[in-house]
Amino acid sequence: MPRILILNGPNLNLLGVREPGVYGTATLAEIEAAVRRLAGSLHCVVRFAQQNSEGALVDALHAARGWADAVVFNPAAYSHTSVALRDAISAIGLPVVEVHLSNIHARESFRRHSLTAEVAAGVIGGFGAESYLLGLRAALSLCEPRSTPRRSPRTVPAKRSLKR
Ligand code: DQA
Repeated sequence: MPRILILNGPNLNLLGVREPGVYGTATLAEIEAAVRRLAGSLHCVVRFAQQNSEGALVDALHAARGWADAVVFNPAAYSHTSVALRDAISAIGLPVVEVHLSNIHARESFRRHSLTAEVAAGVIGGFGAESYLLGLRAALSLCEPRSTPRRSPRTVPAKRSLKR
């Protein structure tokens, strides 16, 4: 089964109470529950994580190398500032789908540019919590099919010759 890390950056732990007019009223726990329901029906395994600090997010991306087939990542404000996260995405060699709840292109000018998006496989934004569900589908579409272990060929007993 494909394994997808869903990684969340700073302040996303406050979803639900944080600027609901911009980010909606769903909490991160509610988004996680919706992602897990979809993951069940798509037959994939998800891990969900949130970190407020840049270094911890770099560590989480590095650790994904040992476990995940792809990453759905909302770097939040670090999207607009972090060379370290951009480099980490490039370094890990896993497909990363960047997601945003809000449409960053329809907001303040400083949000319109994402350093991390430049090295992501693609970006989904503006659909609220639904961005994560779309992100999961996109990440799955980027997973290499795992090769199923081959059965060793059955040895067929040599036919006995009737002739003597
Ligand atoms: C965000 C957009 C960012 O600009 C902002 O700093 C966030 C959330 C989003 O999901 O819409 O924290 O990533």
